[in-house]
Amino acid sequence: SDSDPLQDFCFGDLKASPSINGFPCKSAVSLSDFFYSGLGGPLDTSNSDGYAVAPANVLTFPGLNTLGLSMNDVELDPDGVNPPHSHPRASEVGTVIEGLVFVGFLTTNNTLYSKTLEAGEAFVIPRGLVHFQWNVGRVRARLITAFNSQLPGTVVLPNTLFGSNPPIPNAILVRAFRTDFTTVRNLKSNFSGCS
Ligand code: GLV
Ligand code: MN
Repeated sequence: SDSDPLQDFCFGDLKASPSINGFPCKSAVSLSDFFYSGLGGPLDTSNSDGYAVAPANVLTFPGLNTLGLSMNDVELDPDGVNPPHSHPRASEVGTVIEGLVFVGFLTTNNTLYSKTLEAGEAFVIPRGLVHFQWNVGRVRARLITAFNSQLPGTVVLPNTLFGSNPPIPNAILVRAFRTDFTTVRNLKSNFSGCS
């Protein structure tokens, strides 16, 4: 959903300041600018989610600049979760490469569409909708996802709500989640340092 390019390619000059849509074109390009080797893993998933992602977006693979495309390598430990999140600037399509993954997204009227996928099966997440992945198999799971933006952006709901900087006032979260201050403080304490 990014704007259409007006030239064959425009390898991003990451040292220059981004202009209104992406980076200025680098003046000289080389063969290696159009290749990227960061999608093969394995990634370190030893964190509280049991999940890790390696993005091939314009910031890691500047050859994507102005092309409206990017990809992720997503890896999940058994029971690991890619927490509920959304991408404001892209729809997502993905496929399971290894393992068994429960994938779901929610519509704007809170209908959940979900399915357990095995290797070779694919899913789509319409732009902006909240979605997640959960490894329901016994072994490590791996997915490759792709986006129609060079920089889809990711809003991770738990981090946004409980780990923002500066924090959202507790009174707002108490009301919004119909709970009490202790619960909100406990949730926030697990996300301090996130932003
Ligand atoms: C998976 O949802 C991803 O954003 O790569
Ligand atoms: Mn996603």
